[in-house]
Amino acid sequence: MLEIGTLAGFSAIWMAQGLPDDGRLVTCEYLPKHAEIARANVDMAGIGHKVDIRIGPALETLAALAEDPTRDGPFDFVFIDADKENDSNYLDWAIRLGRPGTVIVMDNVIWEGAILDPSMDEVNAPGIVGALEMMGKDPRLDATAIQTVGSKGWDGFAVARVV
Ligand SMILES: C[S@@+](CC[C@H](N)C(=O)[O-])C[C@H]1O[C@@H](n2cnc3c(N)ncnc32)[C@H](O)[C@@H]1O
Repeated sequence: MLEIGTLAGFSAIWMAQGLPDDGRLVTCEYLPKHAEIARANVDMAGIGHKVDIRIGPALETLAALAEDPTRDGPFDFVFIDADKENDSNYLDWAIRLGRPGTVIVMDNVIWEGAILDPSMDEVNAPGIVGALEMMGKDPRLDATAIQTVGSKGWDGFAVARVV
């Protein structure tokens, strides 16, 4: 599995718990402090041996992964949850580092409705809209988006399958 955006390791723990003991999650985090806290959390959760935290801008980490001959084949599952401006770039990397059948989940694709009115958030909304448009058009993907309303407000996620 591949995750883009680790923060404190909350989603990493859920994903790694679903992996078999010899499964691996590579998770990309820009901030060393976040990576340090995530390392402590995944270790405390007892799944640290499955989690490889890579520190740095994710676009650089992803390019390095693509060139890494020791990487264990394509990723089966990718979770995109970092800087929304780069969602399309991350989607493209997810496809390139995946295989037919790889499932990609992209978080925060509704953004309190800002995708319909990008002036609500001129930094993040255009990146999300661009990635949703890519999911709709890119022949390498089948995809859908699901809205969620709950204690964290109005948002949603997109799920895509590499064809
Ligand atoms: C929404 S949080 C991730 C939450 C996490 N996936 C979870 O659900 O527990 C986004 C994280 O992405 C990191 N981030 C932002 N821009 C990044 C970049 N260009 N490369 C790597 N990580 C980045 C942030 O530092 C932050 O820790």
